Amino acid sequence: MKRIVIFASGSGSNAENIIGFFQTKTTGEVTHVLTNNEHAKVLDRCKRLNVSSLVFNREGFFKSDKVLDFLKKEADLIILAGFLWKVPEAIVKNFPNKIINIHPALLPKYGGKGMYGSHVHKAVKENNEQETGITIHYVNEHYDEGAIIFQAKTELTEQDSAEDIAKKVHELEYKHYPSIIEKVILSENE
Ligand code: GAR
Repeated sequence: MKRIVIFASGSGSNAENIIGFFQTKTTGEVTHVLTNNEHAKVLDRCKRLNVSSLVFNREGFFKSDKVLDFLKKEADLIILAGFLWKVPEAIVKNFPNKIINIHPALLPKYGGKGMYGSHVHKAVKENNEQETGITIHYVNEHYDEGAIIFQAKTELTEQDSAEDIAKKVHELEYKHYPSIIEKVILSENE
């Protein structure tokens, strides 16, 4: 049973979906949710779901080994689900191919610094894209550049607003993220 630690910065609907998925599995279990935002809605979800949560600050993440030491003790797999800070090199180095992110677009399009959440969907709308999607990828030292594990697409119509696009993308995320995480765990056990 792999111990999964989720990082989230905001609402945490993906975090909740992943927690629920693994509640009936023997492959993995979400043991903790970590956040950089003490007001994040994900903290309410954790309380309701009875999952341990921890808030950390810039100091603990970027300038000391506080978060790294916690992860070394507690995590087999780190899942970013709407986490908006760049993961420091020391953490990436200690967890090669053990940190996975989901990006709400078809990378390499609409990736990089500042491209997150609604910013991505607004840019997709402005460019009149006919499709968008999700990218699940390993995390390396550069934003949104680690090896791609999985992508899924959704078609867009001219009438779709940025909010409609967000909804379509979230549906794809809920459908695929948990099972892709499980596939990664199973492939490591082979
Ligand atoms: C998700 O759509 C996720 O792909 C995106 O933030 C949203 C979080 O929603 N992540 C990024 O943009 C990272 N660059 P949630 O908090 O409801 O899961």
